[in-house]
Order: sequence, then C-alpha cells, then structure tokens
Amino acid sequence: MEALELLTRRLRLRTPQIDDADAIQSIVADPRVALTTASIPHPYPEGGAKGFVLHVRGVASRERRNLVMTLRESDELIGMVGYQTKELEAELAYMVSPTHWGLGYASEACKEIVAHIFNATEAKAVIARAMTENKASEAVLSKAGLRWQSEMPVELPIRSGTFLTSFWRLDREDFLG
Ligand SMILES: CC(C)(COP(=O)(O)OP(=O)(O)OC[C@H]1O[C@@H](n2cnc3c(N)ncnc32)[C@H](O)[C@@H]1OP(=O)(O)O)[C@@H](O)C(=O)NCCC(=O)NCCS
Repeated sequence: MEALELLTRRLRLRTPQIDDADAIQSIVADPRVALTTASIPHPYPEGGAKGFVLHVRGVASRERRNLVMTLRESDELIGMVGYQTKELEAELAYMVSPTHWGLGYASEACKEIVAHIFNATEAKAVIARAMTENKASEAVLSKAGLRWQSEMPVELPIRSGTFLTSFWRLDREDFLG
C-alpha cells in the first residue's frame, strides 16, 4: 500500500517508518497514554513498537490506516492517529504524548482524518468510543464533529475491568451537511 501523508496547519500525519519505533515506544509505554485505551497493553513489551510499525505498514489499506503525528515545525513525533473500517464504519483511534496534551493536536489530527475518511474511502460513518472518565478524548471527538450516541459499561480484558464507555458517530450525510 502506498504511503500516505496529510498536512494540517501544525501537523504532518504520515505512514510510520521503522525509524519511528523508539519515539512511538516511549509514548505507548507511558501509563498515562496506555491505560485509557482499549488496545495498548501495559506494561508495553520492550521493543514492541518495532513489530507494531511493521504490522501497521503491512495491513495499511484504504480501509485501515495508522499514521504518526509529527510537528511540521520540528519533525518531532508527538502521537498517532488512525482508523479501521468494518462494514463501512471507520473507527477512530488516537493518542498524543503527555508533554503535548492540551494544545489541540489530537483535535486537529482527528478533524483531518475524518475528512480523509469521507473523501478517500466509501465509509458511511466515522465512529469512536471513549471511557467516560476520559473527558479529553470525549472533547476531541466532539470537536472532530462526532456526536454522542449512547453509553454503556464495556468489559476490557486488556484493562482487567469494566468501564463506562461512550459511543460516538458522524454519518457521511451529516459531514457533508
Ligand atoms: C485524549 C488525547 C488524545 C487528547 O489529546 P490532546 O492533544 O491533549 O487533545 P486536544 O488538546 O486536541 O483537546 C483536548 C480537549 O479536552 C479538554 N479536556 C482535557 N481534560 C479535560 C477534562 N478533565 N475535562 C473536560 N475537558 C478536558 C481540553 O480542554 C481540550 O478541549 P479545548 O481545546 O476545548 O479546551 C490525549 O489525552 C491522550 O493521548 N490520552 C491517552 C490516549 C487516549 O486516551 N486516547 C483516546 C482513546 S479513546
């Protein structure tokens, strides 16, 4: 699959390279990042990000992308954003290094990814879920144009618990307005 690069005002979103693995490792190994996600193991295995980069490069397709977020100004890798499509619904995932939280980067990246999904894929909706205690994540989804649908407890074996989770959605018709 061809590499992808999307530009926003402050960010470059691009296909990860193997050289990105150390920077990714230090972000995903941080419990402040891992513990509010439904997918990042904690503790994160030593060297795990290398395998992750190879994996996401291998599975990349129009329906599935995992991109690194770098600052256009300095090239620093500050997070990741991506989506995976099932039955024409593209589910968002995102994380930002805690040293860069609260600066609007996740919202900027997610808005761009939502536009990419509707412009470049056949998806009929963008969906996402967040732990309701993760207010920053809920704010990101709202700023990216998704709307709250419902909430319910979800069991997450990877987090060894059950978490009240909110479900979010933006349909193609509503994106096009
Ligand atoms: C969720 C996450 C990606 C947000 O990244 P970020 O770049 O800091 O997000 P942004 O700066 O774009 O927006 C955060 C918004 O949340 C708001 N926010 C932060 N903490 C909040 C809180 N406790 N209550 C209410 N709002 C809060 C901020 O004020 C901001 O909104 P504003 O710009 O209107 O002020 C980041 O915290 C993260 O990586 N967390 C760990 C991984 C994760 O949880 N990923 C999502 C899984 S669903």
